[in-house]
Amino acid sequence: MSDGASEGKSSNQMWGGRFASGPDAIMEEINASIGFDKKLFAQDIRGSKAHATMLAHQGIISADDKDKILHGLDTILSEIESGQFEFSRRLEDIHMNIEARLATLIGPAAGRLHTARSRNDQVALDFRLWVKEELAKTETMLTALIAAFLDRAEEHVDTVMPGFTHLQTAQPVTFGHHCMAYVEMFGRDRQRVRHAIEHLDESPIGAAALAGTGFPIDRHMTAKALGFREPTRNSIDTVSDRDFALEFLSIASICAVHLSRLAEEIVIWSTPQFGFVRLSDAFSTGSSIMPQKKNPDAAELVRAKTGRINGSLIALLTVMKGLPLAYSKDMQEDKEQVFDAAESLELAIAAMTGMVRDLTIRADKMKAAAGSGFSTATDLADWLVREAGLPFRDAHHVTGRAVALAEEKGCELAELSLADLQAIHPDITDKVFDVLTVEASVASRTSFGGTAPSEVRKQIAWWRAKN
Ligand code: ARG
Repeated sequence: MSDGASEGKSSNQMWGGRFASGPDAIMEEINASIGFDKKLFAQDIRGSKAHATMLAHQGIISADDKDKILHGLDTILSEIESGQFEFSRRLEDIHMNIEARLATLIGPAAGRLHTARSRNDQVALDFRLWVKEELAKTETMLTALIAAFLDRAEEHVDTVMPGFTHLQTAQPVTFGHHCMAYVEMFGRDRQRVRHAIEHLDESPIGAAALAGTGFPIDRHMTAKALGFREPTRNSIDTVSDRDFALEFLSIASICAVHLSRLAEEIVIWSTPQFGFVRLSDAFSTGSSIMPQKKNPDAAELVRAKTGRINGSLIALLTVMKGLPLAYSKDMQEDKEQVFDAAESLELAIAAMTGMVRDLTIRADKMKAAAGSGFSTATDLADWLVREAGLPFRDAHHVTGRAVALAEEKGCELAELSLADLQAIHPDITDKVFDVLTVEASVASRTSFGGTAPSEVRKQIAWWRAKN
């Protein structure tokens, strides 16, 4: 196939076909951010109102101009909210779209709003406000997810299941204990969210282009009006910094990894081979060809969303890594990554909260699996240490022989006869059978943080008090 280059045509003919007016249109398309930063309209208007109020308070603009500006901004807000506002790509971004409309609405006073600020501190402000609100939303959603797990844990504090390492049966645990593992994970995510809110709680507005301004502005006043703890302390850093976005994406990625591990467990547990859980109809789908199937689509999609979220983190880290101070246009690429990750994360947390609440737990299946695979072998070894005084290494060896015998006989450890066991070690008595059941095994693990129902109840109470 021939292409323009090999035929020696001009580059414009090669790639200009879809653009109505050549390179200018391409510049407009690559430059404009209005397609996605219109999401920041409410933050932009809030920021401008706080800025204009401060300018008037400091005598930098007149009270009359300020009133016109505030009134005009309120009009624009309702125009956007009601879908009447016409966004223009020619005006590049949300900041210039709003300012241009303000000029149409109130005339020359609109031109005074941009005194002592730049789009560099303006966008830093808008985006910080947006991320701060998103973090607060994430915190609330994580609290709901944790609450769902606490309810399930409480309900299943005595439900035994196999605990796994390497996905091989390891030792019996309870489903309640397993649920509480996720409470810990999402609890850490929520702590990270809270710390991130603390880290970003500084107001960028007034840093101007990068060097600050000669106008007698009051950055403490705008910080307070916008609900920030204080203003940022270095104007160069302020317009260069996207740590708050990176931190959001890091937290989202870690949380998504947690959600994905849970999704993977739900996928495994809901197979007929495991059968530990049954998914509600609300969170599964059928197959168009195989009538017997119930697929864990919601869990699978949560698992897949993690790819997008992690990708957004890598994308923004890569955008930022080579940028000299202060602002560069590269930073405009921050928003889509954060918006997309935020949307995916919200959806994933909501879907998981629903799934956890709706899951039918099949305690019979869990119990049967818990007792198979010689899951109480460690209990036998521990008994030999405790009751027969064997060093743990010897007890481990004796137990290994008992497991081999049971395997040969095709039975579980608890099904071996006393004579069989005594042939392996003469000090074994019939008391040993007390520790070979899964319930006894679980009940004995009373160390702090262990799987014994008594211990898990304490952990649930501790989290209930915090949640
Ligand atoms: N749309 C821009 C962004 O998202 C706003 C800042 C533009 N600043 C500039 N100096 N061109 O980053």
